[in-house]
Amino acid sequence: MQTILITNAKLVNEGSTQAADVLIKNGRIENIAPSLSAEGADQVIDAQGKALLPGMIDCHVHCREPGLEQKADLHSETRAAVAGGVTSIMEMPNTKPAAVTNAVLEEKFALAATKCVANYSFHLGASNSNLDELLAMDPKTVCGVKLFMGASTGNLLVDRTEQLENIFGQVQVPISLHCEDTNTIRANEKAAREKYGEAIPFSEHWKIRSEQACYQSTALAVELATKYGSQIHVLHLTTAKELGLFKAGTVDTKKITAEACPHHLWFSAEDYETLGALIKCNPAIKTAADRAALRQALLDDVVDTVGTDHAPHLWEEKQHPYGSAPSGLPVIQSAIVSLLEYLPLETVAEKTAHNPARIFKTLDRGFIREGYWADLVLVDTETPHTVSKENIEYKCGWSPFEGVTFNSSIAATLVNGQLAFSNGKVDGAIRGQRLLFDR
Ligand code: DOR
Ligand code: ZN
Repeated sequence: MQTILITNAKLVNEGSTQAADVLIKNGRIENIAPSLSAEGADQVIDAQGKALLPGMIDCHVHCREPGLEQKADLHSETRAAVAGGVTSIMEMPNTKPAAVTNAVLEEKFALAATKCVANYSFHLGASNSNLDELLAMDPKTVCGVKLFMGASTGNLLVDRTEQLENIFGQVQVPISLHCEDTNTIRANEKAAREKYGEAIPFSEHWKIRSEQACYQSTALAVELATKYGSQIHVLHLTTAKELGLFKAGTVDTKKITAEACPHHLWFSAEDYETLGALIKCNPAIKTAADRAALRQALLDDVVDTVGTDHAPHLWEEKQHPYGSAPSGLPVIQSAIVSLLEYLPLETVAEKTAHNPARIFKTLDRGFIREGYWADLVLVDTETPHTVSKENIEYKCGWSPFEGVTFNSSIAATLVNGQLAFSNGKVDGAIRGQRLLFDR
């Protein structure tokens, strides 16, 4: 393993930014100081003043493997991850088969060891009948439980009240939640069908998957978590109204935390006109006012993390009419650069690395600290780039951001001290590690 010295970096970590050199040895950060000698280093990376952030820990990724490899796989999507500055992923269970047993989960871990360019963990999916599996999960080697409180892509839905109460009452690891009330959505969809027949315009999506559907389900989740003292992480908030259910504060002070996603923070209802199915996702992208409130909530520490909900589907599938076009979009490669358009560097580090590490208690990751794994991203805030088919790593080959010019670029990404991305190229031979948790 190479000893690497990063010189002349603008180190962005734990709320401050300062000039520093970083020495990496055996995959970990050996030394951080204003000036370090290059003696003994196999490689010197002159950062030339670029920003060095902890690599993103993306707690919300769909890689589609096993079973849906025509859309994406663990190798292709972790290539995209490192190209976007993401060094660890926590993947979701709506694969085929669904990851609702520890045995299936371990098969995913075994696959990941041979395929993932980034570090990885996998959520165990909750179902109406697998409480025993959820309770048997090893909290030190698995990130947590994913619970769909509303139906979305796949058929993982927990809608039995007794099972919900059991899960909230007994599961000891973070429970990541998809909150949308299915009955409200069904009623809205029925009304839309009566009005439009099969030709429902995509611009109806946010009225069908409505503010009320989100609020009702999120309110129930917060109520149950409060009742049982459970640790929940509510994924992909999309409305200003839901924000009122969460408290402002540092994550160490709360057991109920919230996530926002790059696409809900970037697009708004006005974009359905031009992008249609390409921005159809669940929960839906809402109004410009909701987007503004979500951005503010990140600054106010009401929303704690940014996770991507990277959810690739085929271009051909996205050409279908509203009723059959799948929900979800690929975003992981553009997440950090899109956030930098409206958030300070320190906030980006907090929401993408520090807070995910704090919530999930990832062992020795998420901060630029001596002794921690060297999961790092070098960001060039002065070199813009335009997203195009030529620079997309996704297996599905398209991005909702195509044609968008971001003011920053990812210059390099290190995973466990290995250069996984540099000079615009991914080193596909690198393999990440299984994440461990300090619980
Ligand atoms: O838009 C979505 N896509 N929302 C989800 O809940 C699932 C995801 C997917 O897996 O495609
Ligand atoms: Zn998701």
